[in-house]
Amino acid sequence: MQPITLTPEQREFRAAVRALAEERIAPRAAEVDATGEFPWDNFKDCLAMDLPGLGIPEAYGGSGADHVTQAILVEELARVCGSTSLIFAVNALSTLPIINWASEEIKARYLPPIARGESQGSYCLSEADAGSDAAAMKARAVRDGDEYVLSGSKYWITNAGVSDIYVVFAKTEPEAGPRGVSCFVVEKDMGLRFGKLEKKLGMHGSPTREVILDGVRVPVANRVGEEGQGFRIAMHTLDRSRTGIAAQAVGIAQGAIDVAKGYMRERKAFGQAIAEFQGLQFMLADMAMRTEAARLLTYKACALIDEGDPDGELTVAGATAKCFAGDTAMAVTTDGVQLLGGYGYTQDFPLERMMRDAKITQIYEGTNQIQRMVVARQLLK
Ligand code: CAA
Repeated sequence: MQPITLTPEQREFRAAVRALAEERIAPRAAEVDATGEFPWDNFKDCLAMDLPGLGIPEAYGGSGADHVTQAILVEELARVCGSTSLIFAVNALSTLPIINWASEEIKARYLPPIARGESQGSYCLSEADAGSDAAAMKARAVRDGDEYVLSGSKYWITNAGVSDIYVVFAKTEPEAGPRGVSCFVVEKDMGLRFGKLEKKLGMHGSPTREVILDGVRVPVANRVGEEGQGFRIAMHTLDRSRTGIAAQAVGIAQGAIDVAKGYMRERKAFGQAIAEFQGLQFMLADMAMRTEAARLLTYKACALIDEGDPDGELTVAGATAKCFAGDTAMAVTTDGVQLLGGYGYTQDFPLERMMRDAKITQIYEGTNQIQRMVVARQLLK
């Protein structure tokens, strides 16, 4: 087991990403939120530090970093800009099925461009009528010679339109339930179409769209794993990728604490800094304790991935980290707004944005109700 504190290399990495986040990403965060633009400039700054390849194995041009280090990246970016952190969380989500399940040919074709920052990926599991109940998906993949013909539609797809590759789950055998799902890597240029841009509460710099599969022809070679293995691949991936959302939630919560701390020292009431009031100190301490607990759960789940999950704990650990961290981010940002009073409710401070961005961490990659269900099912097995 990795020590529960960070290694010197992880600390060094954290300091480097923190400097980048504070100097380059934080100053842009309010504008990204206000305009809804995809933060390409932030992505380029990250590319200059080789960050897009962080989780990709060295054999495919990446740095092959451990999962704690990958979590640190998302956490430090989320601390200042949720939308920028989501680029890395969603690229990890879409590359995990390729890294863990795809043929050598697919890995060699699609991973190096992602590592070089020339390509990005989206993960297409949910549908309009199949979100929590992912196995109820209706999208079809019908074999036709050396190709599959994909039809249907995928909903709530993060970075749809921006991404170059789409990991799509569709049914090759509809009557077989979850065992009838297969997984494919689909290139944008194979004929994907995109629905309208969703107008969301937060994460404004990350486009969310429907991905429309209207007779899209995909080579058989682009199938990931065997026919019928898709649902397992989807779940295996989410067990791991949920640590990315947990890290994002921890980062957002930490960002709220940073802002609240600064405000408490500056703001005066009743003749003293409000930091002197014990009632507010207790609020801040609770925010910090919850966030640190969420961070440790996140790093533990990451360490389990790196160890190969020898005792089968990861499903629960990943769901626990994501659920606890998401709920923490929501509670901590809400308290952060409260600590700033009227100012917290305005766009003059980043807390209202953090509170809006935090909300989605309780919803995507499985709602926190689904996470509780996953945990309870394992406990009662
Ligand atoms: N790892 C590997 N296999 C797993 C697994 C896991 N963690 N969990 C389940 N499976 C396998 C089971 O073993 C079973 O296989 P067999 O039939 O071969 O035994 C099969 O999957 C079906 O399992 P269940 O009966 O448990 O499936 P279920 O229909 O009851 O659903 C669920 C389980 C946990 C509720 C699942 O549907 C789920 O996780 N739902 C939430 C979906 C989700 O997280 N969506 C997020 C979309 S991605 C996103 O949000 C990103 C974005 O871009 C916005």
